[in-house]
Formats: sequence, structure tokens, C-alpha cells
Amino acid sequence: MKGKLYGLGIGPGDPELLTLKAYRLLRLVAVVCVPKSKQENASVALDIVRPHLLEGQKVIEVVMPMHRDRQLLQDHWQQAARQVLVHLHQGQDVAFLTLGDPLFFSTYAYLLRAVVELDPGVQAETVPGITSVNAAAARLNLPLAEGTEGLAVLPHLEDMAELDTVLKTFPNVVLMKAARYSEEIVKYLEDHGLAECATLVSRCGQKGEQVVRDVRILKDTPVDYFSLMLIRQGGKS
Ligand SMILES: C[S@@+](CC[C@H](N)C(=O)[O-])C[C@H]1O[C@@H](n2cnc3c(N)ncnc32)[C@H](O)[C@@H]1O
Repeated sequence: MKGKLYGLGIGPGDPELLTLKAYRLLRLVAVVCVPKSKQENASVALDIVRPHLLEGQKVIEVVMPMHRDRQLLQDHWQQAARQVLVHLHQGQDVAFLTLGDPLFFSTYAYLLRAVVELDPGVQAETVPGITSVNAAAARLNLPLAEGTEGLAVLPHLEDMAELDTVLKTFPNVVLMKAARYSEEIVKYLEDHGLAECATLVSRCGQKGEQVVRDVRILKDTPVDYFSLMLIRQGGKS
């Protein structure tokens, strides 16, 4: 019999944000699969679960780089899927670890697709995790959205005109991967009188966590990859 693939969300960093279900399944599987990119999030994910691993469990790393070249990415996803399938075909259950939630801006979605394409008979179960967005809002005691308010979550900004449009439509905005364009964002927010409404959270729940309440300082400060910005136009309360 084939093994089962589990996509386990393990939360964004705080080891106590691992769900009971993820904990149980983590200790049930024969193989734990950790995605690895040049941002080294592999070790962060592994660090979260390491104390719970059992003797004899195999840990494998698969390379899932962040790249714009679609063909190169697909090659890596296929390669990772083949690595996972070797174990599934040996009857071993595999847990693929994801920081935060597995179906929220995660490489797991690509891996799952590639695995099912190569073997449509594979059984997969996804276990949701607490996202970095939820953890950051909790860290700040700041509502993400209230009542009839909308919330936009952006993983990428083409330019500041896009941010302008989104902020005119949504009172609450989360900018993921904020490190990429933090300087331009802060300049935009200052120019539009919104700097007071924004907070940056880096490495939430991880070693080196940082909360930046005055985002203006980010114009001269490098921003960590594990950072997101919460913008609440109604104010920070
Ligand atoms: C590829 S996405 C992964 C999102 C993840 N699946 C989730 O549910 O939160 C990576 C982005 O998530 C955000 N992120 C992930 N972990 C974080 C943390 N501990 N603190 C702040 N932001 C984090 C950052 O914006 C980072 O650039």
C-alpha cells in the first residue's frame, strides 16, 4: 500500500503555535520532508519541530528555490515530487512541513500539484497552520479587519500605483514579502500621510523577532525576508 502525503502547517515560528493535529501527524509519519530555499527557511521549519521528532524518523530536504524562471521552478517541483514519491511508493507516510499555513503562499501547493500529476492515485491530507499574518496581528493586539471592513493581502507589488489602488479600496492591507520594496512603500506611506497606520513585524515568534512601529526608520534599515507590514487605515488600535 502507498503511503500518504501530509501537508503540515507548523505556524510561523513560535513553537507553541504548532497545532495538536500537526504535532500528532508529525510523530506518525516515517519521513519528514523540509523544503529548502536560499532564504534558509528549511532550518527555521525544522527548528520548530525538531524537539518533537522521534528516533528513526527520516528527514529529507527538497530544494524549492524562489525564482522567476517558470521552467526552472517546474523542474525543481518535479524533482521534489519524485523524491517524495519514492517514499510514498515504499509505503511510508511523508509529512511536508510548511511555515505558517500550507495553502497560503507556500511551496506545498506546487509540490502537491506535481505529486498528483506524477501519481494521481496518491492520497494527500492538508493540515492548516496559523499564518504569519494572524500571528503578527496577534503580536500587535491589532484587529486585521472588523465588522464590514475588507482586508487585502498582497505578496507582491508591481509598483506604488498598485498599492495606491488597493489602499483606496481596502481599509486594511497586509504586505507580505515587504523586504523587497520596503523603501518605496515607506516613501509612499509618508507622502500620503499613512506612515502612522503601518507596522512592520519581522520574524514573528522566531529568534530575532522585531516590531517596527515607526516604519519611517525603514528607509535606512535593511528588512529581513521574514517580514510583513500591516496597514490599518483606521489607526493602530
Ligand atoms: C512564502 S511566504 C510564506 C507564508 C506562510 N505560508 C504563512 O502562512 O504565513 C513568506 C512570507 O511570509 C511572511 N512571513 C513568514 N513567516 C513570518 C514571520 N515569522 N514573521 C513575519 N513574516 C513572516 C513574510 O512576508 C515572508 O516574506
